[in-house]
Amino acid sequence: MHYVNRSGNKQYQPSEQIAEDYTIEKTIGEGRFGICYLVSDGQKSYILKQLKRGMLKKAGAKARYEEEILKSIQHESVPRFIKKIEREDFYGYVLEFKEGRTFEDIIYLDKYVFEREEIYRIGCQLVEILKYLHSKSIVHRDIRVPNTLYDGQKVNLVDFGLARWINNEKYRADMDFAFLGDFLLHLYYSSFELKGFKKRPWYDELQLLPKELVFLKKLMGVNPRYTSIIEVEHDFYKTFEELTQLTAQVKL
Ligand SMILES: Nc1ncnc2c1ncn2[C@@H]1O[C@H](COP(=O)(O)OP(=O)(O)OP(=O)(O)O)[C@@H](O)[C@H]1O
Ligand SMILES: [Mg+2]
Repeated sequence: MHYVNRSGNKQYQPSEQIAEDYTIEKTIGEGRFGICYLVSDGQKSYILKQLKRGMLKKAGAKARYEEEILKSIQHESVPRFIKKIEREDFYGYVLEFKEGRTFEDIIYLDKYVFEREEIYRIGCQLVEILKYLHSKSIVHRDIRVPNTLYDGQKVNLVDFGLARWINNEKYRADMDFAFLGDFLLHLYYSSFELKGFKKRPWYDELQLLPKELVFLKKLMGVNPRYTSIIEVEHDFYKTFEELTQLTAQVKL
């Protein structure tokens, strides 16, 4: 049985068959445009993103881009597009389920503290994913703690609802850099304890190394900003040079 929720949408219930092959396991979240479910085909779990009724028009472009862009991506850290389900009363699509908790939950619910070395390992993966996306002319535009998953090792990037093809006008590759900077700041802030009452800007209150400060400011667009992911990658490895050497030694 499904019921109609306050926004006038059919809200599916656990164990309900949503389309031919998929059964709802649980609702993950409801955003402005859609509802996200964990579903199963009896063998594997998947993510089903349902677009809200009435939002089809407004969110139509968004969904079209998410579908088109996800279909063009083959990357182990990005969910595969499995299939679209389009019926009179339902519009949505099934995506590969990716492991991990969101960084939002890890930081704010688990109160996990990220040390510099782990921030470096996470940053490496995101830089690599961005390098791949930008090389395919895709800008994500929503790299944030609720849209990134982590299992303690691997980072996955989800939610391509705002992703667009780079046209160097409205949609530029460098839009992702401030998101990446802000994301990294969230990781640095996980170990921050406010002493006293005064809230100062991040570059004053976080205990960053001089190199980190320069890199993050440039990423955030405070100093001259980056124009390409190759520059970002270069400076990222230079910033974490000592850690890079440490990692290389461990590998030997
Ligand atoms: N492929 C996936 N594998 C595992 N979990 C996922 C996947 N896609 C989404 N999720 C989970 O579902 C949540 C919501 O998904 P998503 O961010 O794509 O949609 P949204 O933010 O509600 O939608 P919108 O595009 O409208 O902003 C994510 O924060 C994440 O926890
Ligand atoms: Mg999201």
